[in-house]
Amino acid sequence: VPLFVMFFWEYVSTDSDNSFAEFVDTSQRSSEMTLTEQSSAAEVVGIPQENGVKKHRSSLPAPMFSRNNFSIWSILKKCIGLELSKITMPIVFNEPLSFLQRITEYMEHTYLINQACSCTDPVKRMQAVAAFAVSAVASQWERTGKPFNPLLGETYELIRDDLGFRFVSEQVSHHPPVSAFYSEGLNKDYIFHGSIYPKLKFWGKSVEAEPKGTITLELLKHNEAYTWTNPTCCVHNVIIGKLWIEQYGTVEIVNHSTGDKCILNFKPCGLFGKELHRVEGYIQDKNKKKLCVIYGKWTECLWSIDPATYEAHKKAEKKGGEQRKPKQNEQAVKSEEDEEDDMPEVQETVQVIPGSKLLWRIFSRPPNSSQMYNFTNFAVALNELDKELEAVLAPTDCRLRPDIRSMENGDLDNAGKEKERLEEKQRAARRERAQTNEQWRTRWFTQGMNPYTRSLDWLYTGGYFERNFSDCPDIY
Ligand SMILES: *[C@@H]1O[C@H](CO)[C@@H](O)[C@H](O)[C@H]1NC(C)=O
Ligand SMILES: *[C@@H]1O[C@H](CO)[C@@H](O)[C@H](O)[C@H]1NC(C)=O
Ligand SMILES: *[C@@H]1O[C@H](CO)[C@@H](O)[C@H](O)[C@H]1NC(C)=O
Ligand SMILES: *[C@@H]1O[C@H](CO)[C@@H](O)[C@H](O)[C@H]1NC(C)=O
Ligand SMILES: *[C@@H]1O[C@H](CO)[C@@H](O)[C@H](O)[C@H]1NC(C)=O
Repeated sequence: VPLFVMFFWEYVSTDSDNSFAEFVDTSQRSSEMTLTEQSSAAEVVGIPQENGVKKHRSSLPAPMFSRNNFSIWSILKKCIGLELSKITMPIVFNEPLSFLQRITEYMEHTYLINQACSCTDPVKRMQAVAAFAVSAVASQWERTGKPFNPLLGETYELIRDDLGFRFVSEQVSHHPPVSAFYSEGLNKDYIFHGSIYPKLKFWGKSVEAEPKGTITLELLKHNEAYTWTNPTCCVHNVIIGKLWIEQYGTVEIVNHSTGDKCILNFKPCGLFGKELHRVEGYIQDKNKKKLCVIYGKWTECLWSIDPATYEAHKKAEKKGGEQRKPKQNEQAVKSEEDEEDDMPEVQETVQVIPGSKLLWRIFSRPPNSSQMYNFTNFAVALNELDKELEAVLAPTDCRLRPDIRSMENGDLDNAGKEKERLEEKQRAARRERAQTNEQWRTRWFTQGMNPYTRSLDWLYTGGYFERNFSDCPDIY
């Protein structure tokens, strides 16, 4: 039985016994960038390499547990009379990744950024950026496991020589939970950064996560910056039925040098699922002239085509046989079952209009992905840890979290115990700070203004990869 509703409780209630006011002292940080940092991170880390490229693991150490044995009643029974904040979710509904690791999955299709960097044609550049923005949320597909809430001060780094980037993130606020990240191309031709504040809304049958916060991609050689906000992610059937994921909303990618825009509409699935997973949009110049049409599905692929061909195709399609009307019995079925909000069965793949150009296609997942929380190949490697890496990691890195590690190894009992211990340690630290009037200080990010959107954002202060971790907090 899906229990997302309880994730929600847990989410809003963790630490509810404490004051929400946690001020962040930002005065101590300088905001120089790290592009001047000299050492190549790979040299410092000294990870084992094969032909100069590190080999990543292709499978998790243990298969995931079946969730079928857990009944909602057996959990509720234990909770009767308890305060909301005391209820802990059975860890079996998690996936063994921290939310910080989950946002690192934006980088899975980094080759699209590299493509954007090397394009001389500005429209092609925008196409590559649009494809990257869509690809960045594709990992959500069928991932109904809940990532672990990051602890305040938790960090995550990832260096992928094979993909040409390094990445660092930090949990900069606990209430509201905000994760900040910063990434750069190893050949210094782009930086990619942002902060994510997933605002959850509970709608009875579903939980909607609106990812507040701006994402910025700067193509340094082209002196261009693009910003956008991710679409809303909705998990259906949190109380009964089969969990499924939908993403919807408008994503507007803005080129801040010119005001050119790419407007992408992630469509809600609609009554009969015709629009399920569909993304449609266009690139327009500052005079609102459409330069190209983009269409596809975030779970599959993305295509571009010139607007005239697209319109002609739509017209022809309308003439040749009126749009399929829902059959009577379909309507009847729909109105009968309003208990569950099932994922519509209609799942025709994208119909490619002749003359379209492929912008992106999703990578296939590993063969036994379903026993690995539906992870992608990229996700499988995120929590990998070996001796060499362990020796150089910050003590706050998610890979060192004992609860996630235990879950990954299939030890759910220990994972649950450790999770509780870490959360209690976090609460105790907060109480102590409150008593001594001490303010929490973020380590690698500082609150500031995003120069492009002029909105409040979290900016990287630099220096992480110099690896002076002497004043990192003890959070595990
Ligand atoms: C997945 O498959 C690979 C290769 O077939 C195997 O080595 C691995 O143990 C499997 N992992 C899980 C978690 O089932
Ligand atoms: C779940 O049920 C299966 C068989 O129905 C059983 O083999 C397995 O041990 C159970 N797992 C747990 C964690 O109780
Ligand atoms: C974005 O702005 C830059 C700088 O003015 C311009 O050269 C470029 O053509 C624009 N890119 C797109 C994709 O419109
Ligand atoms: C993985 O995907 C399958 C197939 O859609 C789905 O039935 C299952 O619930 C998913 N598992 C998780 C952990 O999300
Ligand atoms: C590391 O940082 C601490 C303070 O943050 C400083 O006192 C120390 O000198 C630094 N060590 C090195 C080797 O730079």
